Amino acid sequence: MIKAGVLGATGAVGQRFVEFLQNHPWFELSTLAASERSAGKPYAEATKWRLSTPLNREVSEMEVINVMDIKNIDADIVFSALPSDVAYAVELKYAEEGFVVASNASAHRMEDDVPLVIPEVNKEHLELIDIQKDKRKWNGCIVTNPNCSTIMMTMALKPLMRFGIRRVYVATMQAVSGAGYTGVPSMAILDNIIPFIAGEERKMETEPLKILGELENERIVNANISISASCHRVPVLDGHTEAIWVEFDDVVEPDDVMEKFESFDHGLQDLPTLPENSIMIHKDEDRPQPRLDRDLGRGMTVSVGRIRKSENGIKFIVLGHNTVRGAAGASVLNAELMVDMGIVKS
Ligand SMILES: NC(=O)c1ccc[n+]([C@@H]2O[C@H](COP(=O)([O-])OP(=O)(O)OC[C@H]3O[C@@H](n4cnc5c(N)ncnc54)[C@H](OP(=O)(O)O)[C@@H]3O)[C@@H](O)[C@H]2O)c1
Repeated sequence: MIKAGVLGATGAVGQRFVEFLQNHPWFELSTLAASERSAGKPYAEATKWRLSTPLNREVSEMEVINVMDIKNIDADIVFSALPSDVAYAVELKYAEEGFVVASNASAHRMEDDVPLVIPEVNKEHLELIDIQKDKRKWNGCIVTNPNCSTIMMTMALKPLMRFGIRRVYVATMQAVSGAGYTGVPSMAILDNIIPFIAGEERKMETEPLKILGELENERIVNANISISASCHRVPVLDGHTEAIWVEFDDVVEPDDVMEKFESFDHGLQDLPTLPENSIMIHKDEDRPQPRLDRDLGRGMTVSVGRIRKSENGIKFIVLGHNTVRGAAGASVLNAELMVDMGIVKS
């Protein structure tokens, strides 16, 4: 078994990591770390477990340690669910100390030598790890997964790349869990919509260009697509929904898009967290919906629906589970791919 630690284990994403790792066939949860507020407490006390999956007794009794206490971290890989401002320095320190860091945080995502990976979309970008190690002269490495809204949209754009995507407009309806447990006060979000999420639009407009870019001469050449995003917080617990308009170089009909989604081949071997269907097409007019569709494929399936013509191209709806496919599940899938490729070993 490969020893896995979780940094930020008590938060909304951290709990999802624990849910995925506590019974994982390849990883063994070896360390749970959070801030000094939680350090020294049993995990079940440090975090009020808020998921429907029961917490294993052994895990519930594990003592949480301070993230800064690196010498006591016993792990082959650490999964980071730290706030981005904290993650920047902490993840650097862990990589310098020789750990493989699989991060959810945005702190290092856009650095030239840091892979920003969705396994079904750009697994070849993991080649940046060797370049990163050489350049930074460290034994560890940092590998990141995209922002939660970016993942859903980019998975849907990938099969359509061969039509020549020119321009994308997207409006998001994002769940409250995306802001973390203490993120949005209930008095602000109930009976309401908040048309602003700090930093989100910039992430959605830039991260897909790197992910859909090509690795050439040891660097990523960004995809040449113009993306404009408008991001909104809505009173949904889990599951981000996105309305997407795409303009192409080619003349494209809804049936062409449907065919590309149906025949999408990600080329991956079987991995424990890889869902049977990475993309699920819904044909009912009123789908996908967060309550009905966010848990498909254990939360790892991205749903698409309402594929139709728009004035200059095609429009459709995308939905995915933000703390699973958009965060912890994405990171665990990256780690499984790295194990499969021999990058992570026990
Ligand atoms: N929620 C999502 O849907 C989502 C999706 C994609 C990416 N992300 C990213 O994932 C990360 C975690 O998000 P979240 O929603 O899980 O946040 P959260 O619920 O606020 O949890 C934050 C975690 O970080 C720990 N922490 C906070 N300050 C710390 C410090 N100074 N030193 C050490 N540990 C500290 C907390 O520990 P204590 O409990 O001890 O305070 C807690 O475990 C963020 O970078 C976020 O942008 C979130």
